[in-house]
Amino acid sequence: MVGYALAVFLHIVGALGLFAALALEWASLYNLRRVATAAQAREWAKLLSALRFVGGPSALTILVTGLYMMATRWGGQGWIGAGLAGLVLIAALGGALSGRRSAAIARTIAGETGAISAGLRQQLHDPVLVLSAWVRTALGLGVIFVMAIKPGAAGSLTALGVALALGLVVGFPRGRAVARPQAS
Ligand code: HEM
Repeated sequence: MVGYALAVFLHIVGALGLFAALALEWASLYNLRRVATAAQAREWAKLLSALRFVGGPSALTILVTGLYMMATRWGGQGWIGAGLAGLVLIAALGGALSGRRSAAIARTIAGETGAISAGLRQQLHDPVLVLSAWVRTALGLGVIFVMAIKPGAAGSLTALGVALALGLVVGFPRGRAVARPQAS
């Protein structure tokens, strides 16, 4: 069934796109916490704001192909429900925790020149940005686990719960030292 094989391919391309967006988000966050000037911050903030153009279409591709595969072969399965819940959670957390903060950072940077202000530094070091990235990365891995193993509803929910808990524990701020800015 060529249509189904194509859907699996596009579904995996969507998953790769989602993780590419997460990797770029990590790169932006890492560098935004080390910038010394507004010009440096602007470059990385631009990347952060542009990520929705990778993450959004990837999530949509995953959803459309996933629903197609469900309708044509699998029917209602616990692991598909868990995948759906994971994807919705990833999108909701990305918008609510990171999207708004990234937009606020972009607004602050637009009004700054020279060395970054204390206010902007505080925004760039907001621990929620890192927590959100950890939780979504862990959830994404949890969904891939569930997709590959295809356990029952209880196993799928447990896997997602463990992923969520790990993301929260690893990403929870513990008063780490603030990174030194790099002049360049
Ligand atoms: C973060 C979200 C998701 C990621 C990263 C993801 C990733 C994957 C991956 C890597 C596979 C291949 C596993 C394998 O062939 O053994 C797969 C399979 C599958 N996914 Fe997803 N998925 C996600 C969400 C969804 C959603 C929301 C649905 C349904 C609405 C879905 C439906 C399916 C189905 C039906 C398969 C089985 C394909 C097959 O083995 O024939 N996935 N997924």
